Amino acid sequence: MLGITVDGLVQEAKTDERLIDVINRSGSKVPQVCYHPQLGPIQTCDTCMVEVDGRLVRACATTVSAGMSISTNSTAATDAQREAFDRILSNHLLYCTVCDNSNGNCTVHNTTKLLGVEHQNIPFRTKPYEVDNTNPFYRYDPDQCILCGRCVEACQNLEVNETLSINWEDPHPRVLWDGGSTIGESSCVSCGHCVTVCPCNALMEKSMLGHAGFFTGLPKGALDGMIEVVKGIEPETGYGSIMRVSEAEEAMRESRIRRTKTVCTYCGVGCSFDVWTKDRHILKVEPHDGPANGISTCIKGKFAWDHINSADRLTKPLIREGDGFREATWEEALSLVARRLSEIKAESGPDSIGLISSSKCTNEESYLLQKLARAVVGTNNIDNCSRYCQAPATTGLFRTVGYGGDSGSISDIAQADLVVIVGSNTAESHPVLATRVKRAHKLHGQKLIVSDLRENEMARRADVFLHTQPGTDLVWVSAVSRYLIDNGMAKTDFINRWVNGFEEYSKSLEPFTLEFASKRCGLPVDTLKKVAHMIAEAERVCILWAMGVTQHSQGSDTSTAISNLLLITGNYMRPGTGAYPLRGHNNVQGASDNGSMPNNLPGYQSVDDPEIRKRFEEHWKVTLPSTKGLDNHEMVDAIQQGKLKAVYLGGEEMSIVDSNANYVSEAFSKLEFFVVQEIFFGVTCQYADVVLPAAPSLEKEGTFTSTERRIQRLYEVFEPLEGCRPDWRIIQDVANHLGADWHYQHPSEIMAEIASLTPMFAGVTYDRLEGYKSLQWPVAAEGSDQPLLYTKEFFFPDGKARLFPLQWQEAPEQPDADFDLHLNNGRLLEHFHEGNLTYRTVGIREKTPDTFVEVSPELAAERGIQTGSWVQLASRYGRVRVRALVTDRVHDKELYMPMNSVVSPINRLTSSHTDAVTHTPAYKETSVKMTVLPEMGENPLPRTNSRWGQPTPQHGVEVERKWQRTDYRIPGPQLVQIQPRLAR
Ligand code: SF4
Ligand code: SF4
Ligand code: SF4
Ligand code: FES
Repeated sequence: MLGITVDGLVQEAKTDERLIDVINRSGSKVPQVCYHPQLGPIQTCDTCMVEVDGRLVRACATTVSAGMSISTNSTAATDAQREAFDRILSNHLLYCTVCDNSNGNCTVHNTTKLLGVEHQNIPFRTKPYEVDNTNPFYRYDPDQCILCGRCVEACQNLEVNETLSINWEDPHPRVLWDGGSTIGESSCVSCGHCVTVCPCNALMEKSMLGHAGFFTGLPKGALDGMIEVVKGIEPETGYGSIMRVSEAEEAMRESRIRRTKTVCTYCGVGCSFDVWTKDRHILKVEPHDGPANGISTCIKGKFAWDHINSADRLTKPLIREGDGFREATWEEALSLVARRLSEIKAESGPDSIGLISSSKCTNEESYLLQKLARAVVGTNNIDNCSRYCQAPATTGLFRTVGYGGDSGSISDIAQADLVVIVGSNTAESHPVLATRVKRAHKLHGQKLIVSDLRENEMARRADVFLHTQPGTDLVWVSAVSRYLIDNGMAKTDFINRWVNGFEEYSKSLEPFTLEFASKRCGLPVDTLKKVAHMIAEAERVCILWAMGVTQHSQGSDTSTAISNLLLITGNYMRPGTGAYPLRGHNNVQGASDNGSMPNNLPGYQSVDDPEIRKRFEEHWKVTLPSTKGLDNHEMVDAIQQGKLKAVYLGGEEMSIVDSNANYVSEAFSKLEFFVVQEIFFGVTCQYADVVLPAAPSLEKEGTFTSTERRIQRLYEVFEPLEGCRPDWRIIQDVANHLGADWHYQHPSEIMAEIASLTPMFAGVTYDRLEGYKSLQWPVAAEGSDQPLLYTKEFFFPDGKARLFPLQWQEAPEQPDADFDLHLNNGRLLEHFHEGNLTYRTVGIREKTPDTFVEVSPELAAERGIQTGSWVQLASRYGRVRVRALVTDRVHDKELYMPMNSVVSPINRLTSSHTDAVTHTPAYKETSVKMTVLPEMGENPLPRTNSRWGQPTPQHGVEVERKWQRTDYRIPGPQLVQIQPRLAR
């Protein structure tokens, strides 16, 4: 810490702190139009000029030094600030009273007020460009654009999509998309970063326009007339009185615009943000202080919310009648559910019933569903969809380090010197997390290795891209481990102190020579050596992996091999290191954490431990089943075998998302009784006997747990649509109709019960999670959490990690003469999974209307396929019809099909092969034959899809180009010391 003086008062500051941050803390008010703490100094606006020891400097670009004396309000400083802001106003038409951005947080409005501006010295000049309305979610108005460059900085260096720039050399600079395209045909991925950081109304969410203000919804002619009136009286009245009118209107807005914090409903990154609403209209999503995301979002979190008010929401319980359904009252539906489950339990026992929780539901809801299964129905047949994706990663970590969760935080990934991504299309599946890697790689020299079948965005950015053969990651990871040990590059000190089982493990690596790995993985030996040396030489390594690893017949073993590699290189127990299996759904981590598993009560407490069971039995006042139940893969088999008679599905499109979908659907049609809790009538509902209308995340309270074990609260944005109920209420209603006596009034009471029974969550309370506060489990009773999981020891009785020996086996499903192509699959940025939610957002449907199959140029040439050609893919299990997209993202005989289709779901083709340990389907091991159909269709990705754009990477805003203009001079009367740019 060091001392500086701001306007005569001594302030403490950290070494290297930005002067603007200290000034802001001090209470002095300085304009700062282009400064955004999460973007760093951009230096385009010059409004933050202050006097430091007699010289003018930009406060945002100056770092403090001991003894500095700063005046924010000297004549020289305020003259400079005013001059700079005057230039800004010449680029912006002030019409706040009729502006949708005038909501108390408009930087231009607030700076006008702060500086007491009455009249502009430089008049407003229009720019010779049209408003760009070509993106479905936001629009750009060049006439309102003050050229602050925040949007460019956000796009270039935070989102790192590198779409935006400013043509500083042009007589009329403006923001450009791909150097001059329309937004709609650019590489813009609609993440919304630029819109979020824009300090005025130049970039705005279309959902705000005409809706936020009392007068802003007027027809354009009337609106223009009002703007004319305002501008007409300004020379006489000055801005002061106009601002006062505007502020009165702004205050009226406060009474009807609600801002409610929520957590994203889509992927496991755990982005949180405020949702601005007016009645049931979503004005916008505004991220600001998300502990995982800061101001970041992807297209889904920012814009994909049309499902909430979709006209086809389920709002009444449905009861099967013959081949159709009829609407029913809640009482009728709940009574029927209770009666049929009771009858089946009486006839065939509790284990003839299975329950499946949803990883879209809250922690409290998953807890209640497993309580319903165990304490009311009396079965351990309870599972969740982590079985389909994450269970193998959890097993790999259980085996080696003890906890089944990411070993650090997203901030650790950003800090790492080397990130290795294995089998994860991170930029599309975990977009905001990927931005942290892209930024560290672009700005901070982080190295990146990517192993994948497909050249996805991260692979294209990587320093080393390992284009592996399908299902062979275990081989190269183990070969690199062996090479490191053989060549004395393992971290012996760390192993000796912290790791058991080294001898046996080393021996198990014998078959994994570089030569074998090279042959089987299709990778040059030199490349493998290079990878080994990069890992050995990096101070801090994080390995990220996802379904490209876990959805294989050796998913658990490959996950284990990754953790083994981290252990022998000492890449645990320090910031910037560790294992990061990237959780797919928003609450897939929490669904397992809270006991929706056949073998574990909440907190991974085993059902066969009598002591643990006793604790739950005493609290729940029941006797609990003691043997492991069926997982959801086994449940499907048990239905087919006639052993499982009834299923209660708490919200999951299983008929599409489970592997070998035809087999799963056939099983559902055999059930004696099937209850589905859903928000839309999806494909799975067709097999149900009762459908219960639930509420989506914006209509309830609770908590989600993200990939970094971060527990966060979501608040009710809207009341549940009439007729719907939050899932926790439905589960309680079902339990009580089955004779339980539950009286939860609010999810906080459920969390209190979870905490009381689960050591891992002992200190979790709603108070500690209030607003944007969060906790990363395990949470001790006194409330301390663990962002970095292993600091003092590993989670085993002796505190030491365990190396786990492995063998490699060929996958059971291989291409042959009939099924000659390998079919890979995965998520697409714009849609979540099969798209049940995201297809309901019109803009997403326009940009990404359908699935497709990616075909390599080589294969396309060989088979006479063009983009748009219809093909039939047939596997040993089913067939689908789909359009081809010819792309060099895939090679040779490898195909790739995104999951986003209800009509042609990929899982009609996938098999029932599973990972031997967890029963996770081997979705990624599918062989198909492809028949080219005679029809020719349109390109499945319209021209407005971002994948056709041409980004323009550059080093941020490049303000130096502005400073080089002949008409630029630094504002203010004195000689100015221009500070060098800060390190970001
Ligand atoms: S990708 Fe598009 S929405 Fe995201 S910051 Fe860049 S221009 Fe804005
Ligand atoms: S569009 Fe970009 S450059 Fe223009 S005012 Fe908004 S953030 Fe600044
Ligand atoms: S989908 Fe994932 S990355 Fe996108 S906003 Fe939601 S949580 Fe963040
Ligand atoms: S805030 Fe814009 S230059 Fe400092």
